[in-house]
Amino acid sequence: MGLRRKSPVGIWKYEFSTWRVDCVGIASASNGSMFWVFFSGMEGPGFYCFRIKHCPCSVSWISLSAQQSHLGYYVYRDMLGEKGDFITSPEISQIFGELLGIWFISEWMATGKNAAFQLVELGPGRGTLAGDILRVFSQLGSVLKNCDISIHLVEVSRKLSEIQALTLTEEKIPLERNAGSPVYMKGVTKSGIPISWYRDLHDVPKGHSFYLAHEFFDVLPVHKFQKTPQGWREVFIDIDPQVSDKLRFVLAPCVTPAEVFIQRDEMRDHVEVCPEAGIIVQELSQRIALTGGAALIADYGHDGTKTDTFRGFCGHKLHDVLTAPGTADLTADVDFSYLRRMAEGQVASLGPIRQQMFLKNMGIDVRLKVLLDKSDEPARQQLLQGYDMLMNPKKMGERFNFFALLPHQRLHGRSHPMNACQSKPSVSPVAGFGELAWR
Ligand SMILES: C[S@@+](CC[C@H](N)C(=O)[O-])C[C@H]1O[C@@H](n2cnc3c(N)ncnc32)[C@H](O)[C@@H]1O
Repeated sequence: MGLRRKSPVGIWKYEFSTWRVDCVGIASASNGSMFWVFFSGMEGPGFYCFRIKHCPCSVSWISLSAQQSHLGYYVYRDMLGEKGDFITSPEISQIFGELLGIWFISEWMATGKNAAFQLVELGPGRGTLAGDILRVFSQLGSVLKNCDISIHLVEVSRKLSEIQALTLTEEKIPLERNAGSPVYMKGVTKSGIPISWYRDLHDVPKGHSFYLAHEFFDVLPVHKFQKTPQGWREVFIDIDPQVSDKLRFVLAPCVTPAEVFIQRDEMRDHVEVCPEAGIIVQELSQRIALTGGAALIADYGHDGTKTDTFRGFCGHKLHDVLTAPGTADLTADVDFSYLRRMAEGQVASLGPIRQQMFLKNMGIDVRLKVLLDKSDEPARQQLLQGYDMLMNPKKMGERFNFFALLPHQRLHGRSHPMNACQSKPSVSPVAGFGELAWR
């Protein structure tokens, strides 16, 4: 087996004599960088390596090569905002984060005002969302005054973690950095709350926590499967033999391990599965069942109905996922029915509910009016445009969904799951998923 060539997009091709499913995994190069290895090829044997750096997750599964580049893509750049590849709700309007801040306080109150809680955000982007939530915590300081709060950010991106620190921390108090530690950065927020950074949720201390994942699950690697007369076959990426340095989709010639994630009674003929999302939801569920709290997950997605959603974004435009892997944001709709199955038994779930409905229930119109009343004309225009982007069904209003994980006793008033016909109405409804009672 020898190195034959390296293409400009970072693809290495090796000689290989036979198909081997068991060779999938991480290989290390002499310079310490990692390669994710998979094999593919329709017309002839071969396998290819896609170079990645700082793989943050288990890649013992065959997956799309571009997702690996995608992880590299996240590690070193700031892709958010007008100058980046895409824009997210918290970057569009401060109201988004403020309402989420109210959601967490509302849940904290509904579950007995614990003396301490952790706010844990997965994939915090530029830190804008956490900043807006923290502003609400400060404004409602009288409600939270005796509560011991800490912030925990799970972020793989070096670049974005630096931007988060700039957004959120008090610059007079130097950050503690330790690249080799699971807690790679520590500091104090502008409002004096301890804040820590991790690469993996596993390393966040267990304790009464509220978890937040906004546009996080859609960036995790998916496996794509196509139904064929021979059964499910995984979609691989291969080098096009006709065109040098061009990639193409091919079907695996035999069953691959990730097939176990497909439901036996699956009716669709093309599915995308995301094992890593399942692992993370199971971890969140175990934590919530053990120590209380809640998780709020917001993303574009479906309830087990959509098929081919894997796509790329570059410069705010759709981008061919096979072109120049590692240079564009790659994403797939979140399958909330899968997340629900992964949580079942441990915790209860609510949703998915459309963003438009969730924000309406959270009182977005009241908050918009308050802000409009005290703004000048340019700021008013910006607020109205932001509102339209978040709420318009043709924009983010119907594309994005909210989904929550809660302890069973939060919904049913007891610690064990009940079936639907036994359930009784909750004394205190969960904000956002029903109308918020303004008091
Ligand atoms: C689409 S951005 C969303 C950012 C932010 N939540 C927002 O809405 O503006 C995805 C975020 O997840 C981070 N990320 C991607 N893969 C990750 C992983 N495996 N573990 C932790 N963070 C990850 C990215 O660096 C980025 O901060």
